[in-house]
Amino acid sequence: MKIAFFDAKPYDKPHFDRLGAERGVEFKYFETKLTRDTVSLARGYDGVCVFVNDTVDAEVIDALYGMGIRLVALRSAGYNNVDIKHAEGKVHILRVPAYSPYAVAEHAMALLLTSIRRIHKAYIRTKDFNFSLSGLTGFDLHGKTVGVVGTGKIGRVFVNICLGFGMRVLAYDKYPSDELSARGVRYVELSELLRESDVISLHCPLTEESYHLLDAEALGRCKRGVVIINTSRGALIDAEALLAAIKARQVGAACLDVYEEENEFFFEDFSGHIVDDDVLARLISMPNVIVTSHQAFLTEEALMNIAETTVDNIVNFLNKRDCPNELCSRCVGAECKMG
Ligand code: NAI
Repeated sequence: MKIAFFDAKPYDKPHFDRLGAERGVEFKYFETKLTRDTVSLARGYDGVCVFVNDTVDAEVIDALYGMGIRLVALRSAGYNNVDIKHAEGKVHILRVPAYSPYAVAEHAMALLLTSIRRIHKAYIRTKDFNFSLSGLTGFDLHGKTVGVVGTGKIGRVFVNICLGFGMRVLAYDKYPSDELSARGVRYVELSELLRESDVISLHCPLTEESYHLLDAEALGRCKRGVVIINTSRGALIDAEALLAAIKARQVGAACLDVYEEENEFFFEDFSGHIVDDDVLARLISMPNVIVTSHQAFLTEEALMNIAETTVDNIVNFLNKRDCPNELCSRCVGAECKMG
C-alpha cells in the first residue's frame, strides 16, 4: 500500500515510518499541503494522508476520484477542511477522533496561565537580567468563572483542570454531560456564559452554526476584560472583531492556538518574511495576546496516537474492513458501498 502523505513534518516521520513498516504501508512524504495545485502528486498512490490545513474541497475530491483514489486519511479529529457532503459516494474520509484530549486541554491552560501571570513577559525580562516586577501583576484563577463552550472530549478535560484550580465552571453545549453537572458544572445559554465568564475557552468544532460564534456582537456582550482562549478552530472567532475588542479594552487578553487565516502561515517559518496579514500581525503585536501556531496537539503521546489510529484506518480500509472512524454516513457501521 502506497500513501501520499501531505504537509509532512519532521516530527511525523519517525512514528509513521515505524508503524508503516510493521503494517505494510509505505508513505511518500510531501512537505507541500494538499491543494488543487498539488493534488496531481497523489497520482499512482492508494490514498492520501492529510492534516488540518490541507484542502479537501470539491475540486480536490473530484481530482482524487478521477485518479482512482478512494481514501483520504485525516491525521486530525476536526474535519472542517473537508467537503464531507461532496465526498459522499466518491472518497472515504477517515479521521482520528481522539488522540490526546489532554494535550489540547493542557495547552489551553498553559496559554491561560502564561497570559494572566505574564510569564511571556517575565521570561524575556529575566533573560536580560531585568528583575523588575512592574507591570507583571496577574490575578488568581481560584474563585473566577470560566465559560467552556463545547464539553466533548477536550472540553471535559479542560473543565476538570479548571475545577482543580477552584474555578466556577459554566458550560454551553447542546448535549450537556450529567457527569459534569453532578460535579458542579452549570450548563447555561451562551448569552449567560458570555455575560458571566471571566475566562472563555472554546472547545466546540467549527461548523456552519459555530462560524464566528464570537463576533463583534458576542464579544460586546462579554464581561469587560474577559480572557478568550481558542484552541479549537480559528473561524470560531471573527479575528477583526477580536482585534477591535482588544483595542477597545473590552477583551482583556486572548490566547490563540488557531487563527482564521492560519492556512497561509501556520506550521511554516516566516521569520525572514514580511507577513502581509495585518490582522494577524497586529494581534501578535499586542502585549496581551499570545499566539501559538496550532501547537496544542503536539505532544509525544498525541503524535503516537495519531500515527497508530491513522495507520489502523488505512490498513482497515485497504483490507475492506469496516472502519469505525469513517466520516461518510453511508458507510458508517456498514460494509463499503462505494467500491
Ligand atoms: P468532541 O466531538 O469530543 O466535542 C465537541 C463538543 O462540542 C461536543 O460535546 C458537541 O456537542 C459540542 N458542540 C458542537 N457544536 C457546538 C456549538 N455550536 N456550540 C457548543 N457546543 C457545540 O471534540 P473534541 O475532541 O473535544 O475536539 C473539539 C475541537 O478541538 C475539534 O473540533 C477541533 O476543532 C479542535 N482540536 C484542536 C486541536 C489543536 O491542536 N489545536 C487538536 C484537536 C482538536
